[in-house]
Amino acid sequence: MTDSWATFGADLHLEPVGQGLRSGLMEALREAVRSGRLTPGTRLPSSRVLAADLGVARNTVADAYAELVAEGWLTARQGSGTRVARRSAPRRTDPAAAPSRPVRTGAGYNLKPGSPDLSAFPRTAWLKAARKALTAAPDEAFGYGDPHGRVELRTVLAEYLARARGVYADPERIVICSGFAHGLTLLGRVLRRRGVRDVAVESYGLDVHRDLLTDAGLRTPCLPLDERGSRTGEPAALRGAGAVLLTPAHQFPTGVPLHPDRRAAAVDWARSTGGLILEDDYDGEFRYDRQPVGALQGLDP
Ligand SMILES: Cc1ncc(COP(=O)(O)O)c(C=O)c1O
Repeated sequence: MTDSWATFGADLHLEPVGQGLRSGLMEALREAVRSGRLTPGTRLPSSRVLAADLGVARNTVADAYAELVAEGWLTARQGSGTRVARRSAPRRTDPAAAPSRPVRTGAGYNLKPGSPDLSAFPRTAWLKAARKALTAAPDEAFGYGDPHGRVELRTVLAEYLARARGVYADPERIVICSGFAHGLTLLGRVLRRRGVRDVAVESYGLDVHRDLLTDAGLRTPCLPLDERGSRTGEPAALRGAGAVLLTPAHQFPTGVPLHPDRRAAAVDWARSTGGLILEDDYDGEFRYDRQPVGALQGLDP
């Protein structure tokens, strides 16, 4: 069972129903449990927080919680707050919400490529950082804001990228995306609109990325590949391309770093033709066999 929690009343989307605030709130909470929106074990916000969010007296919420504890819907324990009772079975009608197949356990190692050790996620540090940032954020941070992303984030990213990856990027020229695929989608659209027809890609590269480019109306000729990475120096390799998509830190999927001569050749090509290098620096910080190789971007920002 998960140990999920709901800190804020707004997360619960409670609409007290019927007459009487306390009984209306109780029915809304029961319905949230019945429908599965609040799963067993979920920690509810404190009565103070929920009362503030709903604009009702704290006693109203405390009384509703106490009655639902008495009815067996919730449990309350010193130090662990108020939670949805473990045995309260949600009523699931949506097949998509049915319990997923049990995860097979027992194998000592998961060798599936492309998936990090998810158990290493730094939960405590993440929560601490999120709490600190939310506490310090000005009110306007919760509005729409700059479409490039917040300047604080772009500034620390620029510093971090310079330090960790040898990238030179002015915060003014950084656009925060939700991932590489999102960034590539935007770039594909812009390149096509600028008249680019071909974006060269690496052999055996990620098909998802190729598809994003073809969806933007671009052709994706393949660069040949060997043990030194993509053969960017071959005269025919990049002819006619307006951009090239590379994974220089470690070629996907072979893991080989792009050889210094090939890096230089890619930069020469970009300088002489005005072509763009789309550097997918995925997992650039991580290597098991050597020090991370700096990003290609640093060679000619
Ligand atoms: C080659 C490659 N590039 C980039 C990414 C990251 O993509 P995204 O940021 O869109 O999740 C991955 C993730 O698996 C990848 O395999």
